Amino acid sequence: MAFPVNRPRRLRRTETMRRMMRETRLAPEDFILPLFVCPGRDVMKPVSSMPGVAQMSVDNIVAEARETYAAGVPAVILFGIPEHKDATGTSAWNDDGEVQRAIGEIKERVPGMAVITDVCLCEYTDHGHCGVVENGDVDNDATLELLVRESLSHARAGADIVAPSDMMDGRVGAIRDALDQEGFHNTAIMAYSAKFASAFYGPFREAAESAPQFGDRRSYQMDPPNGDEAIREVMYDIEEGADIVMVKPALPYLDLIWRVKQEFGVPLAAYNVSGEYSMIRAAGINGWLDEKRATMEVLTAIKRAGADLILTYFAKEAARELAGK
Ligand code: PBG
Repeated sequence: MAFPVNRPRRLRRTETMRRMMRETRLAPEDFILPLFVCPGRDVMKPVSSMPGVAQMSVDNIVAEARETYAAGVPAVILFGIPEHKDATGTSAWNDDGEVQRAIGEIKERVPGMAVITDVCLCEYTDHGHCGVVENGDVDNDATLELLVRESLSHARAGADIVAPSDMMDGRVGAIRDALDQEGFHNTAIMAYSAKFASAFYGPFREAAESAPQFGDRRSYQMDPPNGDEAIREVMYDIEEGADIVMVKPALPYLDLIWRVKQEFGVPLAAYNVSGEYSMIRAAGINGWLDEKRATMEVLTAIKRAGADLILTYFAKEAARELAGK
């Protein structure tokens, strides 16, 4: 039946009606806040390409975690900026490293907060690649062992979830095996399964000081045009034992968030990455759009596409906005 019988505007007439008819609802529980942990005390070093984001020493990380948890956000994901970098990223499995200490402190002082750790070597290697470099490329199998060491160190420190973001083949299985052998069968894995070689990571590389010193990441991160391959990547990670899978970035890949959710129905995270954050922030600062509205619209779209969890630098502000604060 058509117009004039059908008048969709009837259900949009007032805010109350719109509230009743809303199909997708964001909640603070949907969000995970990424944090950058650096050495030192009382350090708060703003990231110029990400206004509102800063590298923080452990003490300030704890304060930020406390505020974020109070706003209703249940989880943070930690990235480390180590004092020392070398060819194999040995600082990544230093039990006394920045991330490891931050896990312990957050767990002690904000006990309800779920702590996720990013497992990758690019922040820890002097060449900035996500693994061991042999003949100008990252050696997959030699890297697995190092990712395992890093994951075990995070698990020992008390991480609830480890999140490998390196895109080596077989890393989820290798990490699951090692965790189980060491008695960490309750440490969950959130796999960056369909992670694309994206221009939208630009600002993050300043934040994490992790830009590759030569070449790029296209031999391990996915080629942006590939959707079927993303489905295979997710399937392999589920088979290897991933508890949560991820699509990253979020906005240019909403179709894949949808496909992964439809195809597998497993817990799904989407990473609203640094470039997606900075675009909105920059436009907001310039007065080119309403930053709050743009943020909520984007986060809602990611959830509507099928994401259960959204990693976003807007987590705290968005949670406060939802609470009307
Ligand atoms: C580490 C890693 C990156 C991001 C998350 N983990 C950068 C990269 O792969 O170059 C990007 C996050 C963001 O842009 O917000 N490999």
